Amino acid sequence: MREQPVGVFDSGVGGLSVLREIRRLLPAESLLYVADSGFVPYGEKSPEVISQRSRAIAEFLLARGAKALVVACNTATAAAVADLRARHALPIIGMEPAVKPASSATRSGVVGVLATTGTLRSAKFAALLDRFAGSVKVVTQPCPGLVECVERGELSGAHVTALLVRYTQPLLEAGCDTLILGCTHYPFLKPALQPLLPADIQLVDTGAAVARQLQVKLAEFDLLAQGPAAPTGFWSSGDIEVLQRVLPLLWEGQAATVQDLSV
Ligand code: DGL
Repeated sequence: MREQPVGVFDSGVGGLSVLREIRRLLPAESLLYVADSGFVPYGEKSPEVISQRSRAIAEFLLARGAKALVVACNTATAAAVADLRARHALPIIGMEPAVKPASSATRSGVVGVLATTGTLRSAKFAALLDRFAGSVKVVTQPCPGLVECVERGELSGAHVTALLVRYTQPLLEAGCDTLILGCTHYPFLKPALQPLLPADIQLVDTGAAVARQLQVKLAEFDLLAQGPAAPTGFWSSGDIEVLQRVLPLLWEGQAATVQDLSV
């Protein structure tokens, strides 16, 4: 069982920003990755649709022997992680915007959150603010369009810059000194984002924390692999050729073949 793979999924390629942290921290683990790119963006879909997709993908990964699941998507975690945990008795790691670390890090007392509409609307996000924001002012900004850019492999250029300026301007004007990247697609836009921000703005994301949480859970269930890891398996419900083209931009792992996901 220990040598079985860890199953990771997202609405698309964003979860690769989490997958790379898992690969870095846990090189002995075999990994399976599902990009649900045929249904991207989750951020504009109903919680019911996201739950139904998450259930189908979880079953697909379990049928391929997954010993643990990582929901590498803030939006799917908000909509579906409780349902997945109720259905399956294996470690299931979800993720949420890094409100707690950002609230400790801010010096201005104002934190900005860039995330999807679905995440920002969710009850889980409201509960996160209640629990961790304390006296810190949290300003939120939905970012339609950014996910689609990353899905196309468009990580810089005039269109990306215009969107990033539009979405960060109100947060900077509100006095934010710490910006949470609350969607797993956004870390891939850091190189385009950083030059648009004052030098002292901190960017916070949760990929590395999710990898550490996976390590803790695998150890707790005595499921840590010894290795060597098998080649990572990739599936997409979208256009395979697009993922095959975009993958080398986002994934430093070994060359990979993408298979068709038909669930
Ligand atoms: N990458 C996802 C997240 O972390 C969702 C993006 C989307 O499909 O809207 O929220």
